[in-house]
Amino acid sequence: MCGIVGYIGENAAKDILLQGLKNLEYRGYDSAGVALNDNETTSVYKAQGKLDNLCSLLNRVQLKPSARGIGHIRWATHGAATETNAHPHKSNDGKLVLVHNGIIENFRELRQELEKQGFRFYSQTDTETAVHLIDREYKKCGNLEQAVINAVALLKGAFAFCIMHDDEPDKIIAVRKNAPLLVGLGNNENMIASDVPALIGKVNRIIYLEDNEIAIVHRCFVEVKNFAGDVVEKKIENLAFEPELISKRGYAHFMLKEINEQPSIIRRQLAEYFTDNGEIKLGNIDLMALMQAVDKIEIVACGSSLHAAMTAKYMIEELAHIPVMVESASEYIYKYNLTDDKTLVIGISQSGETADTITALKQAKQKNAKILVLTNREDSSIVRYADFVLPLKAGIEVSVAATKSYTAQLMLLYLLALKLAQMRLGMNDKLRKLKEELFEVPAKIEQVLCQTNLIKTCAEKYAKAQDYIFIGRGISYPSVMEGALKLKEISYINANAYTAGELKHGPIALVDEKMPVVAVLTKDNLLYDKMISNCQEVKARKGKIIAVTNDAAHQDMFDDIILLPKSSSELMPLLIAPALQLLAYYTALSLGREVDQPRNLAKSVTVE
Ligand code: G6P
Repeated sequence: MCGIVGYIGENAAKDILLQGLKNLEYRGYDSAGVALNDNETTSVYKAQGKLDNLCSLLNRVQLKPSARGIGHIRWATHGAATETNAHPHKSNDGKLVLVHNGIIENFRELRQELEKQGFRFYSQTDTETAVHLIDREYKKCGNLEQAVINAVALLKGAFAFCIMHDDEPDKIIAVRKNAPLLVGLGNNENMIASDVPALIGKVNRIIYLEDNEIAIVHRCFVEVKNFAGDVVEKKIENLAFEPELISKRGYAHFMLKEINEQPSIIRRQLAEYFTDNGEIKLGNIDLMALMQAVDKIEIVACGSSLHAAMTAKYMIEELAHIPVMVESASEYIYKYNLTDDKTLVIGISQSGETADTITALKQAKQKNAKILVLTNREDSSIVRYADFVLPLKAGIEVSVAATKSYTAQLMLLYLLALKLAQMRLGMNDKLRKLKEELFEVPAKIEQVLCQTNLIKTCAEKYAKAQDYIFIGRGISYPSVMEGALKLKEISYINANAYTAGELKHGPIALVDEKMPVVAVLTKDNLLYDKMISNCQEVKARKGKIIAVTNDAAHQDMFDDIILLPKSSSELMPLLIAPALQLLAYYTALSLGREVDQPRNLAKSVTVE
């Protein structure tokens, strides 16, 4: 989603801002802009579309040297992705400029009020309201910091701002409320960013701002205050990310690199979460004490994380016999829930910044539920609401479509399910076998990845299809939902997933000789036989079946087959995922799509 970078120092702000924005590009955006100050005046440059358009614009204009500036990539919410709506926005006198992440909820009322007072608006954004509001306060008090403090008291919603004023050339002001923002500390230069990658390779000490904090960032020092104006002592942390983490390492796309990283990530997780004597150890969580304090589990998440959550429901209910409710975080927030102080609420979020998931956890916390968070970013906002955190340890994920974080979530959820099962029901043969099998998963994923060429051929064969259907049963159902989501996200082909049993209750009306149907069949008697019957139903309507299966029988009834290694059905989601990720990847590639940054999508969705 939107990204912010700010720089004040001795070097060329333009280059540093552009590099920072480039490092945030992966989050998804549709316009970009920078404001550069040359110590006297500020010039704003904006462009629709990709950052390259802004770079070309900046190459065409004569720029004065400037060592202070702010930059932004925007993912449109209020107003289309036009140059006018792009950030930075400026005050009517052109002296105050501002970039914003988040949404100002009371912008309509404020805009009306400001328009009545004579402020002229040029964009349809909620952001421009903040500019004029701060400008109005500045004209009253003549002090930028105070003007910002006065203005934020009037704003509702979520905002991270970076603000500069021509008349206060020694500073940039950064503000955080419900949207992440951090300050990077260098020598005679400081930066501001909405996420760590913007700082990688430039500064290596950071201050994470908390909600309701303002940082006054000078070239040589930084002061942090709360919204009441009191100074806040902040901890300085070392930046743990290496530039190498955001490189494609020779792969054509981050997505392909991240798909191929899955075996090594799972090996890393197994090393991290198993003790030397083969016991599962989930960090410092005393699961026994925790489970004595609760009587049910609820899981909230969005997107791919939601599909991991749905898989976990099958695992935990089947293995540990504990009831699990799974809810899309955006639905959880607005419905009646049975969450109470005897509920364990698990929030799953790769980015740890998904607004819906964070709000859901905040609500659960207010009801005194115990909160466990699974995230790939231990430095993210969601961690604040957690009683316990299980880090995914998947390394930074750059491609908008989640791949390695999804399988890393599945793996951690397996460990949790097995541990819960062992605690509740004692060790038994099934659990012992599943535990042993976990260690075979990385090599089995490697076997799936070895089929890349076959999957590529299959993807190319059906790439011109208008629609796709995905079917599965039992624990494979969330896997086909995830497969369909991947295909939609990056190829823009309409793909819908159904439990195979539901096919005949409507969706089968769509099946004809042009319809590819991805059927996941895993060898576990009842479900397998039922899936074969469902495939027959598709065949009878001339649909094309792409079977994703761990059983080589019945090959003649399928049009294409992606053969997966043998495994217990419980662990199959870990093998189905890379196969369907590759199918989506090569379909998108063959259609010439922008694989890593699909249209309209954002890596972390920081608005509800
Ligand atoms: C966005 C991303 C998806 C992701 C979802 C949830 O929609 O494009 O890939 O699955 O957010 O993100 P989270 O960071 O909470 O897992």
